[in-house]
Amino acid sequence: MNQAADQPEPNPLREGLSARAVPQPCAIVIFGATGDLTHRKLVPALYNLAADGDLPPAVVIVGFARRPKTDDEFRHDLEESTRKFSRQPVRDEIWKNFEESIFYHQSEFEDEAGYKALAKRLDEIDKNHGTRGNRLFYFAAAPDQFEPILKHLKAAGLNETCKGSWVRVIVEKPFGSDLASARELNRIIHNSFSEEQTYRIDHFLGKETAQNILVLRFANAIFAPLWNTHYVDQVQITAAETLGVGTRAGYYEDAGALRDMVQNHLLQLLCLVAMEPPTDLSADSIRDEKVKVVRSLRHWSRKEIATEVVRAQYAKGAINGEPVVGYRQEKNVNPDSQTETFVALRLFIDNWRWADVPIYMRVGKRLPKSATEISIHFKKAPAVLFNKDLRDLNVLVIRIQPDEGISLRIHAKVPGTSFRIEPVKMDFHYGTSFGRASPEAYERLLLDAMSGDATLFARRDEVEQAWAFIDPIEEAWHAKKDVPELFFYPAGSWGPEAADDLLARDGRAWRRL
Ligand code: BG6
Repeated sequence: MNQAADQPEPNPLREGLSARAVPQPCAIVIFGATGDLTHRKLVPALYNLAADGDLPPAVVIVGFARRPKTDDEFRHDLEESTRKFSRQPVRDEIWKNFEESIFYHQSEFEDEAGYKALAKRLDEIDKNHGTRGNRLFYFAAAPDQFEPILKHLKAAGLNETCKGSWVRVIVEKPFGSDLASARELNRIIHNSFSEEQTYRIDHFLGKETAQNILVLRFANAIFAPLWNTHYVDQVQITAAETLGVGTRAGYYEDAGALRDMVQNHLLQLLCLVAMEPPTDLSADSIRDEKVKVVRSLRHWSRKEIATEVVRAQYAKGAINGEPVVGYRQEKNVNPDSQTETFVALRLFIDNWRWADVPIYMRVGKRLPKSATEISIHFKKAPAVLFNKDLRDLNVLVIRIQPDEGISLRIHAKVPGTSFRIEPVKMDFHYGTSFGRASPEAYERLLLDAMSGDATLFARRDEVEQAWAFIDPIEEAWHAKKDVPELFFYPAGSWGPEAADDLLARDGRAWRRL
């Protein structure tokens, strides 16, 4: 008997993350090619992929922007920034080879002729570089440019595929500024591209440790029985940055920390922590489960927002001993700005698994340390035997960055003749366990988009549901009366006292980072 016949057919839907699709040759067209993101993140990420031999053999980068520039000037600018921002040092021989696949296409975003010329140029690139008609359009321009770009791409026929080729769009955040504008943006995108062609980037999902949350939860049997309201006392998520607003006031003044970080990055992390096991690892099965988490978030009433959400802005202070100005004194910031640079909130996921487990989130700029972590605090052991006097809980910490890893706090007996018990840490560090640096989030995400794997990109319904949660908070903050207070905290502190009170009234405290 043929043994192979006994083996079940592999189910392609059950492969997903563990057996990845292969990235394919393509032309990557970056709209907003002279901007910060292209220089700091996108091109350094592509260079690192090339240096590690992870790029498909034929990948061409076409920068699309308004400023006049030659291919050579563009390559020169990118070389400079890549040398500055690359994860690994730039090697001359690799850069030389890499830059030959970089081109510059000068056009206004509104100029129809510029897109026709782009279509022609891409056809030539296909012929000369073997990119096979595959196109990845990266929207790194200002959001108000998205509509004209999409309209002209369609008019130039650049949204169409032929003979087995593919066309995809990657859309950078911010994805709208509220539910209505996100819906409108989705509508505009879907005039030209289908949902399957749309990759909404959230770079936190590309971080190694964020991806590891699913592995931790679903490749280890020991955590699953504890991962629910019966054993979890609380969950904390912190994303702290020492940086201030820098040169981004133009965007940040309207956005603020809630829109900039909570609506996307923090809610995405929460989804990974709180979701049910997906039926398989396909992009949609995972996203089906994630969206249920956002849909289950309890929406606060206007009155509750004042007590459940704390907003604050940094005042002058010091970071690492260096004095820094307050937010209102930063360049291009309104001296009376009401924009929050810090948010702390308590939320609840009203579903069977998480009923009554408080989730505390905080995010802020100009905090004492740059660190992002998720901690799961388990309930106390019964108050008999050793546990009468123990104050610490068992805590599982997922360090997203820096020093990526996972630690578990347990209790141990202090060596000696007396019976003293102290908390200790079991600690896993990516760096030491695997001995190599994790790729940058953008490396992973660009490769996934070239492979047609949308698992780590946000789906339309996820983004819209997240805005539905955020909108009432923004509305309360911008209301005409009973507006919740904007607190201030000195730069270099862990935010206002009100953020501590949010937990103190539940008899809890933020984890010390
Ligand atoms: C971006 C926000 O999405 O994420 C920034 O717009 C923030 O304000 C940044 O600084 C943080 O990302 P990372 O990867 O540096 O933690």
